Amino acid sequence: MVDRRALGGAAAALAVAALGWAATAGPLAGASVPAAHASSADLAATTAQVTAGTRGGDLYQASCAACHGQAGEGTPNGPALTGSGAAAVDFMLRTGRMPLPAPNQPVRRGTPAFAEDDIVALVAFVAGLGQGPAIPDVQVSAASDTAAGRAAYIANCAACHGAGASGDAVGGGQVAPPLLDTAPTQVGEAIRIGPGAMPAFDTRQISDAELGQIAAYLQFLKHEAAPGGATVGGVGPVAEGYVGWLVYLVGLIGVTRWIERRRKTP
Ligand code: HEC
Ligand code: HEC
Repeated sequence: MVDRRALGGAAAALAVAALGWAATAGPLAGASVPAAHASSADLAATTAQVTAGTRGGDLYQASCAACHGQAGEGTPNGPALTGSGAAAVDFMLRTGRMPLPAPNQPVRRGTPAFAEDDIVALVAFVAGLGQGPAIPDVQVSAASDTAAGRAAYIANCAACHGAGASGDAVGGGQVAPPLLDTAPTQVGEAIRIGPGAMPAFDTRQISDAELGQIAAYLQFLKHEAAPGGATVGGVGPVAEGYVGWLVYLVGLIGVTRWIERRRKTP
């Protein structure tokens, strides 16, 4: 027969162990993470973490700190983020450029690595590490002046991104990407921060109103302008010509077979 006292002892030991874990490791899992890694010099970072909640701080430590430093001070693998501001962080995360998969990798547009909530938390955290440009308020509506947007685009952007905003090589192995699928806010952010080889434009060069006009013109280009007729997902003239040719060929074979079959039936 099983000794009931031994069973009771085991249960008590288990309860004590669980209580001990709850008292020590439990709180560590969430609330005290900032204190765990903050040195006394990281006061600004700690304050930012407390105000932004621990979510952004936790994500930052897990995905960014290895290259950008625990308080955004920078490392040999990544620049300091203390002067980046919300605009640069939001732009990098929403265009999937960050986190870089490994040091010395090219910075490329891609699928965002984080969900909406996590992007907001990360932007708040990193913006709190220093001072930098805020996310611009880019307004696009049916009333937007696309003619003014076109003029500003041709004057400032077309040389690199192409007249149709379908992207172009800018030399030195750098590529100015297509802009037709970039959200208006990220267009405004790019103009203000100047990512990679792109120059930044201040409010004297391109006003806040013009940010919206340029973004509206890009939307217009995407939706209205297909002067050669229907596009095949905008994959380029060679591929589009090929698809047209294929449709023609399949149609021709169909007609030939139809004629052949009619000839056979008496
Ligand atoms: C593997 C290293 C690496 C990781 C991980 C990484 N970055 Fe970066 N990051 C870089 C490098 C290198 C650059 C500079 C790119 C350039 O301009 O050529 C950069 C640039 C940036 C910039 C632009 C800085 C500026 O002001 O111009 C921001 C903002 C940024 N990173 C945010 C993040 C965030 C947020 C994360 C985490 C989600 C992250 N990065 C993860 C390496 C990294
Ligand atoms: C000197 C060439 C140059 C000029 C001028 C220029 N860009 Fe760029 N732009 C670039 C390059 C290069 C990149 C890619 C940067 C990177 O990936 O790090 C870029 C990236 C962008 C992006 C990010 C697109 C995405 O979805 O990833 C936007 C938006 C953008 N540019 C808009 C503009 C607008 C609007 C103008 C005019 C006001 C402009 N650019 C002027 C070279 C230029």
